[in-house]
Amino acid sequence: MEILRIENLGFIYPPHKEALRNINLSISEGDFLVISGANGSGKTTLLKCLNGLLKPTYGKVYFKGEDISKMKAQVIFSKVGYLFQDPNDQLFSATVAQDISFGPNNLGLSKREVALRVDEVLELLDIKSFRDFPIHDLSQGLKQRVALAGVLAMQPEVLLLDEPTSSLDPQTEDELLIFLKRLNEEKNITLVMATHEMDLIPEFAQNIAIISEGSLVRYGSLEDVFGCAECLEKGRLKLPTVTRLLKGLKEEGILSFNKLPLSFEEAKRILKEAITKR
Ligand SMILES: Nc1ncnc2c1ncn2[C@@H]1O[C@H](COP(=O)(O)OP(=O)(O)O)[C@@H](O)[C@H]1O
Ligand SMILES: [Mg+2]
Repeated sequence: MEILRIENLGFIYPPHKEALRNINLSISEGDFLVISGANGSGKTTLLKCLNGLLKPTYGKVYFKGEDISKMKAQVIFSKVGYLFQDPNDQLFSATVAQDISFGPNNLGLSKREVALRVDEVLELLDIKSFRDFPIHDLSQGLKQRVALAGVLAMQPEVLLLDEPTSSLDPQTEDELLIFLKRLNEEKNITLVMATHEMDLIPEFAQNIAIISEGSLVRYGSLEDVFGCAECLEKGRLKLPTVTRLLKGLKEEGILSFNKLPLSFEEAKRILKEAITKR
């Protein structure tokens, strides 16, 4: 079932910087979609249009068939959560618990319900021991977890994430992706994530949309989009490292396979088979 629909959307930053042009996308419930493209291609602008943080210059966004420009800000913000690239742009209260309770308080929930939700997300993100910590004392990774807790406390159906791994070390990055995959699979939250970290994408995403200079280049499954060399070129993107390696070996006649391996595990399987066959 379709959860978000983007119809002929365009965005111009005044006076005349055209950041998005005639974008059409239909996002299914339960998807884990990546929006990829070079720096400045329009990823952040597009994500911000999806929950009304930015109002499109033309075109429409629908959440479950409802025009989001006609929905109350509080309602759409709670259904479609947004995680800023820099958690410092998201967090503004003095302590962790105060920040997380801000959104649920604004929804007009009872004190008891707010407290329950805060406890639940503190537990979910494993940050219970930081409940009363001042936010400015936290590391960047912890700040991001608090910001994510605040968004999840609204119990959103869609989560928009703007390059969430860009300032994390490799292990923290892995932990975040495993967590997001669980949210997607176990809680059926639809995820739309901007990133150009090509090695990571096959480890979690189902579909990918490439944008270049504000226009949609291609939207589809990973196999489809990664199979289009011209699309990657337009998006100034590269295939994942393991894919390039195995593709190179195939071109030299050393390996043979039909389906292009995208993830680390798929590549490992092909190499293992080839080695054990010898
Ligand atoms: N506030 C702004 N005013 C004018 N131009 C902007 C503003 N924010 C972004 N842009 C421009 O819009 C384009 C798309 O930006 P953005 O959506 O941030 O791209 P990305 O997230 O892919 O890096 C870029 O050319 C950028 O310089
Ligand atoms: Mg951006």
